[in-house]
Amino acid sequence: MADATQATHDEGPMRLQRFLARCGVASRRASEKLIVEGRVSVNGNTICELGAKVDSKRDRVAVDGNVVSIPQTDRTFKLYKPTGYLTSMSDPHHDRCVSDLVPIDEHPSLYPIGRLDLDTSGLLLFTTNGALGHDLMHPSKHVNKTYIALVDGAVKESELDRLREGIAIDDDIFAPAKCDIIKIMSDRSRVSIVIHEGKNRQVRRMFKAIGHEVIELERVTFGPITLSGMRPGQCIELTKAEYEALDEVRSRLQRLE
Ligand code: URA
Repeated sequence: MADATQATHDEGPMRLQRFLARCGVASRRASEKLIVEGRVSVNGNTICELGAKVDSKRDRVAVDGNVVSIPQTDRTFKLYKPTGYLTSMSDPHHDRCVSDLVPIDEHPSLYPIGRLDLDTSGLLLFTTNGALGHDLMHPSKHVNKTYIALVDGAVKESELDRLREGIAIDDDIFAPAKCDIIKIMSDRSRVSIVIHEGKNRQVRRMFKAIGHEVIELERVTFGPITLSGMRPGQCIELTKAEYEALDEVRSRLQRLE
């Protein structure tokens, strides 16, 4: 068994309960229970106390006699980010970070693909696959994202035309956006807007430039992935069909290079 100073593997020695969580056996807390119940062995020796460390490359860990190991395949999840959560995997100055909502015990290398503002809700993807994240994020890759914005005032088609044509704001030039009015209410409007860039506070700045403050903003799609059927705070792994759809987007982008 590894001791705390031994560094033999990418992830280094880790606590047995963390290793079990990484293997997908159970959450870290539930894995602790398995250990104290005497159901876990390391190299044939039953471990009943918490505190043991294992080297995931060298030690043979079994639960109820079945050997377990850390899956080597990349994983991608989608989170329905609620407002009030910072897009960060850790921030000592902020109580609520998106990392609180994603399964980092099991998948410590998950990181967000892009970001959403603190006051924006909606779809945020997380992956352990660095190349996928890079491909989907790169500004040249043109992956569409749809937002639903609640804005003040009654939006006119002629104003949206300015966003449809592309608009220069301060030092930024924003590419043409697809915009559709969903509903005009007495003092506010709901509009859907599709952009492929991810510049800082882009949608808020675009609406401000045409005279409308964004009151609420939610991202509902990212490429082929949607929020459909999810509730705020929920984080789930992509389905097989969603993995395939993302792969297709990546191959299309690679062909464009
Ligand atoms: N545009 C914004 O203004 N904010 C976001 O969080 C995303 C896009």
